[in-house]
Amino acid sequence: MQIKSFDSTVFVSSNLVEQLAQSISNFPKANKIFVTVDENTKKLCWPLIKDIPALQQAHLISIPAGEQFKSIDTTVSIWKVLNENGADRKSLMINLGGGVLCDMTGFAASTFKRGMSFINLPTTLLAQVDASIGGKLGINFNGIKNEVGLFNSPKDVIVDTIFLKTLDRTNFLSGYAEMIKHALIFDANHWKNLQEFNPLDAPAGVDYTLLGQLIATSISIKNEFVTNDPYEKGLRKALNFGHTIGHAFESYLMKQKRGVLHGIAISQGMICEAYLSHKKTGLPQSQFEAITNYILKHYGKIDFMQDDYEALYELMRHDKKNEDSLINFTLLNEIGTVKVNNVCNKSEILEALDYFSGL
Ligand SMILES: NC(=O)c1ccc[n+]([C@@H]2O[C@H](COP(=O)([O-])OP(=O)(O)OC[C@H]3O[C@@H](n4cnc5c(N)ncnc54)[C@H](O)[C@@H]3O)[C@@H](O)[C@H]2O)c1
Ligand SMILES: [Zn+2]
Repeated sequence: MQIKSFDSTVFVSSNLVEQLAQSISNFPKANKIFVTVDENTKKLCWPLIKDIPALQQAHLISIPAGEQFKSIDTTVSIWKVLNENGADRKSLMINLGGGVLCDMTGFAASTFKRGMSFINLPTTLLAQVDASIGGKLGINFNGIKNEVGLFNSPKDVIVDTIFLKTLDRTNFLSGYAEMIKHALIFDANHWKNLQEFNPLDAPAGVDYTLLGQLIATSISIKNEFVTNDPYEKGLRKALNFGHTIGHAFESYLMKQKRGVLHGIAISQGMICEAYLSHKKTGLPQSQFEAITNYILKHYGKIDFMQDDYEALYELMRHDKKNEDSLINFTLLNEIGTVKVNNVCNKSEILEALDYFSGL
């Protein structure tokens, strides 16, 4: 299956080697090829592609794994390898990794000599359904996530579930939360299909063919929103469902040294924002309960105390998605239909947190 996204073609493939060889062959003038990996994808994913003839002379650029290395220092180390090995604008970069690696290497490629072409091979579920669609590239800077970056697109994105066979369950669940979000904001049928698939079976007990179809649907949904609103003026805000409260949870837990993966925090945020949707935008009780029960069953619940509410509220107040210091939510009218720009006041937000705490 192929999906056009800005200047990229996204291939949801089940024949990785053939697809990658085909994508590389579209660059007959590429004098040099650079493959970026992190320490995990070097071990687990590079062996799946390294025998491709076109990659025999490729330079491997290995970076440390982890969000803390999504930095200017790591970017400089990538530019350095490119520079010392004679990369130029005709060279090709192939990025093999999760969202951290793809965001940063895409940024490094887009800025080196004012931009060289790159192909992304996202290797985590989150990167496949979220980070590799929409053109946002960048690094963390001065303690702020994604502070420096740009919009640019890989030439091709090759999404293959074969990579997910080595991904741990928590990372799998983190990516799956974004798929649940896609279903809730846009496609009741996708929601039905996602409920029939058990992410807790990952990685060993999963039907990877079916998963590939679910991933393709999620990519199409994200693509629908980002292509209609490339610079986040309005519609794209739909993708923030679960993220206003979810981000506050994520930041708060990190400060408390109880950090969780992004999608896990967002799953909890979706419960709270489904509550607000029920109260404010008409999400029917039965659908609200179905969402809550599904998330509790698959993600469990992270505990917050009443003493935490004020700090969580402050984090929401400083969310960069707010306008005019009002806290802005993306809420559901029903499963599959979303409404952006809903302002909720402090007492409504605290009520949602209280509901969540009482579960
Ligand atoms: N650009 C966007 O639109 C966008 C959207 C969402 C998230 N993001 C970014 O994505 C990043 C998070 O991405 P992530 O969740 O993929 O994290 P990640 O890239 O850190 O990957 C998670 C872990 O899995 C390992 N890994 C990668 N592939 C593997 C595989 N196939 N098998 C086993 N282990 C593997 C990695 O080495 C890492 O340790 C954040 O920096 C976030 O800002 C960007
Ligand atoms: Zn997210």
